[in-house]
Amino acid sequence: MPHALPPRLVSLADYERAASEVLDPGALSYIAGGATDEVTLQDNVAAWRRLALRPRILVGVGRRDPSVELLGVRRPHPLLIAPMAFQGLVHGDGEIATARAAAASSTIMCLSTLATTSPEALAEAVPDAPRWFQLYVFADRGVSRDLVARAVEHGYEALVVTVDLPVFGLRERELRSGVGSAHAERVPIAAAAGASGAMTAAGFAELVDPDLRWSDIEQFAAESSLPVLVKGILTAEDARRAVAHGVSGVIVSNHGGRQLDTVLSGADALPAIADAVGDQLDVLVDGGIRRGTDVVKALALGARAVLIGRPVLWGLAVDGAPGAQRVIETLLTELDNALALAGSPQASSLDATFVTPAPWPDQRR
Ligand code: FNR
Repeated sequence: MPHALPPRLVSLADYERAASEVLDPGALSYIAGGATDEVTLQDNVAAWRRLALRPRILVGVGRRDPSVELLGVRRPHPLLIAPMAFQGLVHGDGEIATARAAAASSTIMCLSTLATTSPEALAEAVPDAPRWFQLYVFADRGVSRDLVARAVEHGYEALVVTVDLPVFGLRERELRSGVGSAHAERVPIAAAAGASGAMTAAGFAELVDPDLRWSDIEQFAAESSLPVLVKGILTAEDARRAVAHGVSGVIVSNHGGRQLDTVLSGADALPAIADAVGDQLDVLVDGGIRRGTDVVKALALGARAVLIGRPVLWGLAVDGAPGAQRVIETLLTELDNALALAGSPQASSLDATFVTPAPWPDQRR
């Protein structure tokens, strides 16, 4: 019997299916799961589908330009790779493979505080990967300051301070699978923070500071030579506070539905935030972006750029760096197609007139 050819992976959903076949159940539960009933997790994807596009015709789309300006720098396209912890659970090459995919596709990679690769090792292995550093602020501020200094020294271009994790969300899939206790001992930063033994969620929770406040953010922004973005903003009130406390950008995010369940999706939270502060700092969004049309909708609603989370891990699981690269390239191809067909050849020219609430029923998976 000849071997069947592997099925071609065309869409991000194809990668999701393929990844679920290769990942062990514990790792899969860690990646795929959300908090408690996973209402927000599901809605993150559904919310983009509740928006319909309003295309323009006969505008001449032969020359298309997906570039955007982000933190004052022109970037070739609006995709970033979201910070995601423990990538060594997904593929042996972990974050280094993700960085290779980032370098090959000119995509900014956000390295998590809880990476299984140190900021230095990543920078040395893939020096041409555009990179930002994601910071969980530890109760021991000295450790956090040291981390920031290491990021500055090793070419990270911005700091993403994640503010929606004062404590861990209740992730029941992980509890059922028991993956919580299986998190690698290979979390270099945890060692620097004085954690003993394996880095479990519980161990991590002891390090992170649940009393972080806006004044701390202001101090980071004032002390840091890098632009500071806060990740995990869901209301216009907080976005205004972010402006008042001197940050350069906000990332509208619910942490991929992994923290507080039943909060708004990124798609639904974005418009009010972009309206409130979009002319004062850069607004980015993440959560549930799975299609080029989702990216178009995000930009139309006022985001400068979008972060892609789980799909990158699906690519990583399926085929390491080339798999993650193909996931990003698939989205870029879809984005190019959507810009042409929506009649907005320049990504940066999209505005709210390109979207409207969809008249069709909710499209949950
Ligand atoms: C995350 N996310 C996350 N965020 C962060 O600021 N620091 C982190 O270490 C992690 N770790 C992490 C691990 C895994 C497995 C996932 C899936 C997510 C949240 C992430 O940055 C992003 O906000 C969401 O994943 C975006 O949603 P999608 O694209 O996964 O739907």
